[in-house]
Amino acid sequence: MPDIRLTSVTKTYGDKSRAVDDLTVTFASGEFICLLGPSGCGKTTTLRMIAGLEMPDSGEISVGDKIFFSSQSGQFLRPEKRELGLMFQSYALWPHMSVEQNIVFGLDMKHMPAAKKAERFAELAKLLHLEGLGGRFPRELSGGQQQRVALARMLAVSSNLLLLDEPLSNLDASLRLEMRAELKRLHHALGCTVIFVTHDQLEAMTMATSITVMNNGRIEQQGAPMDVYRRPASRFVAKFVGSPPMNMFKAGELPLLSGEVARTLGISAAGMETFGIRPEAIRLSADCDSAVLRARVDTIQPTGADWIVGLVFGNRQLFALTSEMPPRDIGAHVGIALKADGVHAFDKTGVAVERVS
Ligand SMILES: Nc1ncnc2c1ncn2[C@@H]1O[C@H](COP(=O)(O)OP(=O)(O)OP(=O)(O)O)[C@@H](O)[C@H]1O
Ligand SMILES: [Mg+2]
Repeated sequence: MPDIRLTSVTKTYGDKSRAVDDLTVTFASGEFICLLGPSGCGKTTTLRMIAGLEMPDSGEISVGDKIFFSSQSGQFLRPEKRELGLMFQSYALWPHMSVEQNIVFGLDMKHMPAAKKAERFAELAKLLHLEGLGGRFPRELSGGQQQRVALARMLAVSSNLLLLDEPLSNLDASLRLEMRAELKRLHHALGCTVIFVTHDQLEAMTMATSITVMNNGRIEQQGAPMDVYRRPASRFVAKFVGSPPMNMFKAGELPLLSGEVARTLGISAAGMETFGIRPEAIRLSADCDSAVLRARVDTIQPTGADWIVGLVFGNRQLFALTSEMPPRDIGAHVGIALKADGVHAFDKTGVAVERVS
């Protein structure tokens, strides 16, 4: 399957602001792409335009040399001709049909012979751990099993491109974890291209081989999850990806910190408007006399594996994330050291300032 290309794609609903604004992006073949961004940033609209369920105002969408849409040449390939798998958040199974009937539904529509259909069902049941459940009805399944049936139904009509719009959002935490692993395994086994829409940064970080961060109908950054995390291209990405979120300070708000930051970054503080500090880049020590920075411990939230420590620094609050027990209790002062690679600087337009080192 070739790459999916969107060129200057714009979509406006009514006379309101643009849902998708002059989007130019390539989704590489074989990747597990997570389209990540806050509510209303245009993720679903983008996915629906790729699927052919929404008509762009202008631009071009193509897969290899196959044109899905082009405003210039007036081409529009009908959704059923695009040969892709689609799964939306509300994936409703047919309640009066068995698991097997649900899964082969799309093959019935294609008039596939019974023997081939049974073969395809067996294949999918194995892939999605649904063996022995073919005769059950949806109401006799757990939420996770139902979701796997919906996935199997989508995969039955095989395609090399899967479009998924927040398919896990109505599952509880443990099922979500299970399904995330399932989808990753599936992607690995099938080698297909997946475009997965989510507003959950953890979901994107854990599943994607490539993350595309959207904001206001535009793309902020595209890259491998760890690159997006370690080298956020903008203040928006820096704040959106990571939990607890990055601590943000205006330059000059904390003069001491600005000096420290500039020094650790090896660049001049000129031109920087904001500093961001990842919570895990803050090291706490009981010794506050020799530390350059000190803060008061305000709150301590143990998560089991880690501690989220709320600190008061001047008149600002910040959060540290540590895998070691905080050295002091609430109300006491601690010394702070910063790990340089967790400190980021942004200019007044919100664009990341390049590091020298
Ligand atoms: N059918 C529609 N009519 C009018 N406006 C729409 C329509 N669909 C989407 N919009 C608007 O377009 C913008 C982008 O919507 P979209 O559904 O693509 O966002 P999203 O990123 O998927 O958000 P969410 O995470 O909440 O699902 C929003 O401002 C939304 O209100
Ligand atoms: Mg949406």
